[in-house]
Amino acid sequence: MSTAYTRRYVLAARPATTTEPLEDGVLRYEDHAPVPALRDGQVSVKVKWLSLDVATRGWMNDVRNYLPPAPLGEAMRALGAGVVTESRYPGLAAGDRVSGLLGWQEDAVVEGSTLRKVPDGVPLQAALHVLGISGQTAWLGLHDIGQPQPGETVVVTAAAGAVGSLAVQLAVAAGARVVGVAGTPEKCDLVRSLGAVGCVNYRSQDVEAAIAELASDRVDVVFDNVGGAVLDALLPHLAVNARVVLCGAVSRYDRGGPVPLRNWFHLLPNRVRMEGFIYMDHADRFDEIEADLLPRVRAGELRCQEHVIDGLKAAPEGIQVLLNGSNNGKVLVKLCD
Ligand SMILES: NC(=O)c1ccc[n+]([C@@H]2O[C@H](COP(=O)([O-])OP(=O)(O)OC[C@H]3O[C@@H](n4cnc5c(N)ncnc54)[C@H](OP(=O)(O)O)[C@@H]3O)[C@@H](O)[C@H]2O)c1
Repeated sequence: MSTAYTRRYVLAARPATTTEPLEDGVLRYEDHAPVPALRDGQVSVKVKWLSLDVATRGWMNDVRNYLPPAPLGEAMRALGAGVVTESRYPGLAAGDRVSGLLGWQEDAVVEGSTLRKVPDGVPLQAALHVLGISGQTAWLGLHDIGQPQPGETVVVTAAAGAVGSLAVQLAVAAGARVVGVAGTPEKCDLVRSLGAVGCVNYRSQDVEAAIAELASDRVDVVFDNVGGAVLDALLPHLAVNARVVLCGAVSRYDRGGPVPLRNWFHLLPNRVRMEGFIYMDHADRFDEIEADLLPRVRAGELRCQEHVIDGLKAAPEGIQVLLNGSNNGKVLVKLCD
C-alpha cells in the first residue's frame, strides 16, 4: 500500500517563557508528513476546521496543567472537526461528520472512540463552538456552578468572546439580569445585542465604579474568563451567597505577569463560593448538554460569532489574536478543501 502524506504543524520545541508571543522554532510546518496506516479501532479524518483556544498556548509549555504538556514531535494538540474518510471503528463510517482532538494537520488518524458525531442540520464548525468546547464550557460553568436564579445579576467577563457570549445568552435565557465586561465599544455593543442590560469597557472605564452603577452593587454570579485586575474590581460588589465561576484566566498571559487579588476579603463576610472547573472532566454530560443546546441552535436562539483564520499555515497567528483580544468571536482555522 502506498504511503499518504499530509500538511501539519509539529510542536518542535517548548517556548522559552510561558507568557511571551511564540518565538520562531516552537512550531514547525511540514508539507509532506506521512499519515500513519489505519489500525483496528481507528478512523482517518479529513480535517476541515481547527479550534484555537487560549489553552493552546498553555499546552505548549512544560508546566503542570489539567492535561500533560502537548508532546514534542507530534502535530500540535487541538480540537478539530472534519469528515471520516476511512473507518476501522464500528461506530463510524466514511462520510460521517465528526469532532475531537484532531491536531494541527489536514489528515488525522485517531481512535474512533474519542470522536463525537456532529448532528445534522448545523454547520460542521458549530461542533467547535456553540455545540462544542465553548458551549459546553459556558453551560457547565453557568448552570452547575453559577446557578443563576430569575432576577439575579450575572456579570460575564470577556463577554464578547466565544465562551463569554454564550454564557451571556444562557444567563439571559435563565431570566437573569446580565452585565458584560469587554474590551472595545463594538464588543460592548455586541454584548448588549445579546440581551445584556449593560456592558463595561474595561480598557476605557473604571470597572469598579461602572459595575457599582450597572449592577446596583449586588452581583450574584460572576462568570469570569479573565482573572487579574478585572476580576479584582468585581469582588467588592458581590452579594451575600454569590458564586464566582472561575472559567478562564486569559489576563495571566499578559507580559506584566500575574496580578494579585486585593479584594479577596469580600468573599468571606459575603459567604461567597469561588469555584474552578474544566469542561472536559464532564464528557459524560456532553449528550445532555447537546440535547439542551441543539434545539436552541437550530431555532437560531443561540449564536456565536466566528473569527476565521484562512489555511493551516496561518494557524499560529490565531493564538496571538486570542491573547491580544483582537478576535471577534470563536477563533477557527479553516483548512483547505
Ligand atoms: N474551564 C474550561 O474548561 C474552559 C474551556 C474553554 C475555555 N476556557 C476559558 O474561557 C475563556 C474564553 O475562551 P474563548 O476561547 O472563548 O476566548 P475568547 O473569549 O473568544 O477570546 C479571549 C478574549 O479574552 C479577552 N482578553 C485578552 N486579554 C485580556 C486581558 N488581559 N484582560 C481581560 N480580557 C482579556 C479578549 O477580549 P476583550 O477584547 O474583551 O478583552 C479576547 O477576545 C478563556 O479564559 C479560556 O481559557 C475555559
